[in-house]
Amino acid sequence: MIRPSSTDKIAGSDFRLPKAGPQGSAQDRAEQQPQATSVQYGIRRPIVAGNWKMHGTRSENARLIDEIISRYPADPAPECIVCPPYVYLQEVGRLLRDSAVLLGAQDVCADAQGAFTGEVSATMLKDVGCQYVIVGHSERRLHYGESDQLVARKFAAAHAKGLMPILCVGEQLADREAGRTREVVARQLDAVLELCGVQTLASAVVAYEPVWAIGTGRNASPEQVQEVHAFIRGRIAAQDATIAGATRILYGGSVKASNAAELLAMPDVDGGLIGGASLKADEFLAILAVAGSR
Ligand code: 13P
Repeated sequence: MIRPSSTDKIAGSDFRLPKAGPQGSAQDRAEQQPQATSVQYGIRRPIVAGNWKMHGTRSENARLIDEIISRYPADPAPECIVCPPYVYLQEVGRLLRDSAVLLGAQDVCADAQGAFTGEVSATMLKDVGCQYVIVGHSERRLHYGESDQLVARKFAAAHAKGLMPILCVGEQLADREAGRTREVVARQLDAVLELCGVQTLASAVVAYEPVWAIGTGRNASPEQVQEVHAFIRGRIAAQDATIAGATRILYGGSVKASNAAELLAMPDVDGGLIGGASLKADEFLAILAVAGSR
């Protein structure tokens, strides 16, 4: 599926919609490999990713995974990722074996190896079967003091080992109220572009998560979401229009079954990064179904 997006309307941009890639199951399989970039395939297959945060037990995880993999919508399937806490990655990875659901982590160390007590490296995440990793989630930026530069180093570390980073960006309520949303999102995005280069976005995902809409039940309107997504895509397009056209930009912040359709209908919204609703099989599966039917 090719999604038209706002970048073709950017003044002065030579953006063109990318050509359609191969269709069908071979493409689906290829897209599950981190090496197969969205630029290579020239499409934006929707993603629904569940960020479990610090929730779950072994038995709860097993029940949830069992429900998801038995009811994961077949065709046209969005890419489905679950991101359990570190300690459960290997076991959840085993539960996902033989399914099309992919494994992601919630964080990664910026350093490759060494005396970093409590940290987990990109190599280790690959070793236990992760294909994706969230970097720069606002909860890490806010509660653990992660700077834009540290997030960029984490992005680089993940990318270097063949993990697909899911780069989270988003403003706090005070930023939005002061009219600084674009400034904050640009600064967060630019830190990665400067350290890693725009080409790395060919095998990465961006997630826009306004802090004020996370876990609050307070919704960003579809128009507010689209405006920031278009801004992000335009900023990437200023460096590389092809990559911008192929980069998947997810929305996160109180997404649930009841509002997924209106959010995912926006032209620059390529899926969702789901917190609370990803812990409930019915909710998560309903969001997957919406993403698959777009
Ligand atoms: P909620 O869906 O619970 O608002 O969380 C969003 C989020 O932070 C996903 O990373």
